[in-house]
Amino acid sequence: MRTQVVIVGSGPAGLLLGQLLGNAGIQSIIVERASRDYVLNRVRAGVLEEGTMALMRQSGAGGRMDAEGLLHNGFSLAFNGRSQRIDLAGLTGGKHVMVYGQTELTKDLMEKREADGLQSIFNAEAVELHDFDSDHPHVTYQKDGSGHRIDCDFIVGCDGGHGVSRASVPENAITTYERIYPFGWLGILADVPPASDELIYANHTRGFALCSMRSHTRSRYYVQCGLDEKAEAWTDDRFWDELRRRLPQEVADAVVTGPSFEKSIAPLRSFVAEPLRFGRLFLAGDSGHIVPPTGAKGLNLAASDVHYMFAGLSEHYLEKSSAGLDAYSTRALTRVWKAVRFSWSMTMLLHRFPEHGDFDRKIQEAELDYLSDSVAASTVMAENYVGLPL
Ligand code: APR
Ligand code: PHB
Repeated sequence: MRTQVVIVGSGPAGLLLGQLLGNAGIQSIIVERASRDYVLNRVRAGVLEEGTMALMRQSGAGGRMDAEGLLHNGFSLAFNGRSQRIDLAGLTGGKHVMVYGQTELTKDLMEKREADGLQSIFNAEAVELHDFDSDHPHVTYQKDGSGHRIDCDFIVGCDGGHGVSRASVPENAITTYERIYPFGWLGILADVPPASDELIYANHTRGFALCSMRSHTRSRYYVQCGLDEKAEAWTDDRFWDELRRRLPQEVADAVVTGPSFEKSIAPLRSFVAEPLRFGRLFLAGDSGHIVPPTGAKGLNLAASDVHYMFAGLSEHYLEKSSAGLDAYSTRALTRVWKAVRFSWSMTMLLHRFPEHGDFDRKIQEAELDYLSDSVAASTVMAENYVGLPL
């Protein structure tokens, strides 16, 4: 087989890039290790920046997002029993975010790809990347007991944090930066109305908690937990009790409990690989960088990488210029590092760290006070939360 661009991975990064390329008449094949159903059922975060919404619309798969997504003009930080609202719209000249689950966004992109007849290969085993340091890269994989090969002009690795793309780069060609946080988030989904119209991030002596949602009838809640804990050890009752303890009283009273239908623990990590280009191989999304979920930036960074990657590929094919591809790694990483910084600072502000003492807690308290008192401080928070310009 031959195509112009092989995209490794059918998560939001791969699907969004494939759709933009398809719309521009540039061929791609997506090669995905997991099954279609597995990809469609993964539960991830769900806060979209305006740039991500715009890319969804540009892809032609934004219709349901615009119909069903919830626009949020603010969120709250809760601390010591009180809440401070961050007025996103008021502090950023009218910008907002949209709550729309990544699971839904993936479904919309997948259905659009299928409707447009664009090719995806699911259940591809032993995916390998070859000769991307030459002008003739190719990708091989096994499926249904036989070997396959796709020749291409470029490979874009959109295969997440544990994929084959980054792992294929020689160690001496890549530099990585990492911070592992000593806790995880235990998250649940339940078909109960959310406790509040807006998200609430809570710093509590028992640990962080987050009230989020997927719709007016579906809530997503998280509590900080130990890395050695097991989701199975958390009954729904234990979860609801712990969540309510960590929230200001009026919010705790507004939590509607019910049976959960998803419960899992995710570790928190910051990670960046540099550069994001190796000859004819490019990394985009989680394959190049991971952020802790505290700022809701993971999906949005995947989208901004795709924006720059699509600019580079369309300039190459439609304008015969390599400028965009040459600039990709630097442009993408410049924005990535700012979101890495923001996600790290939100994580530091809101969690209990085992090594922290009274001093560190006082510093968190002072920062939260400063955010309440200072328009400058809350504007910094708001402009980062809605997303820095592309
Ligand atoms: N070969 C082919 N596909 C692979 C391989 C491989 N060796 N390894 C992983 N994959 C696939 C995964 O099965 C997954 O479907 O690559 C896809 C990567 O998707 P995501 O992990 O969703 O990553 P990305 O598209 O970059 O999305 C960005 O935003 O909210 C955050 O981390 C969250 O998924 C999210 C991300
Ligand atoms: C979510 O709804 O899953 C969510 C929202 C905000 C975050 C992280 C996760 O910061």
